[in-house]
Amino acid sequence: MDSLSRHEDYGSDPLRESDMVADPLAQFRDWLKDAEDFPIYEPNAFVLGTITDKGTPTARTVLLKGLDDGFLFSTNYLSRKGNALDADDHVTAVFGWYAMHRQVIIEGTAAKVSPDESSEYFASRPRGSQVAAWASEQSRPIESRDALEQQFADADDRFAGDGDVPRPPHWGGYRIVPTRLEFWKGRSNRMHDRIVYLRTSDGWSVERLQP
Ligand SMILES: Cc1cc2nc3c(=O)[nH]c(=O)nc-3n(C[C@H](O)[C@H](O)[C@H](O)COP(=O)(O)O)c2cc1C
Repeated sequence: MDSLSRHEDYGSDPLRESDMVADPLAQFRDWLKDAEDFPIYEPNAFVLGTITDKGTPTARTVLLKGLDDGFLFSTNYLSRKGNALDADDHVTAVFGWYAMHRQVIIEGTAAKVSPDESSEYFASRPRGSQVAAWASEQSRPIESRDALEQQFADADDRFAGDGDVPRPPHWGGYRIVPTRLEFWKGRSNRMHDRIVYLRTSDGWSVERLQP
């Protein structure tokens, strides 16, 4: 396994405080655009870390589906992550754009978006994804793939016809409101750049961390 002994040089492009904009959400938007243009495969994918009611950290990949004063994603509210968020709203989100030698780490709290906002987004999804939201009790065990296919077929039948598939009550969006954002840029000799924005009472403070 060559990858375990490889030593990649992450290059010399610097990340300077003077290149960063004052609003970290705007800075993130710039980097997401760069990742789209690169192009990074699924640039809006991020690893979402949550904490269960037992204090256990758990993580999984989800897709960023909106960006305003927070980071929006959608999921099943009754899933493992949904249960974790009911118990503890603290989250971390990691965007790893490795081919660009870039990473963004966000910390904050997640809250459900309004039902209207969830419904609006649900309506924009492909029909198959809408049916799947009804068909899958996300994170619950199931005895076989066949049983899962049957659940999909049943949901598909239920909403057969020309009518829209309504949003299931257990499916919707969360908005992560950030308190800390770290922009990481790989550099040669593992002397990477790390610029961190921390929320203050009236804006953001910025500091550089050692790699
Ligand atoms: C690239 C990628 C994108 C994903 N996007 C989502 C998503 O937007 N929402 C979601 O619920 N699950 C998404 N998943 C599946 C999750 O990683 C996870 O398996 C699922 O949400 C169940 O997680 P949980 O049991 O921790 O709640 C995605 C997986 C991958 C690999």
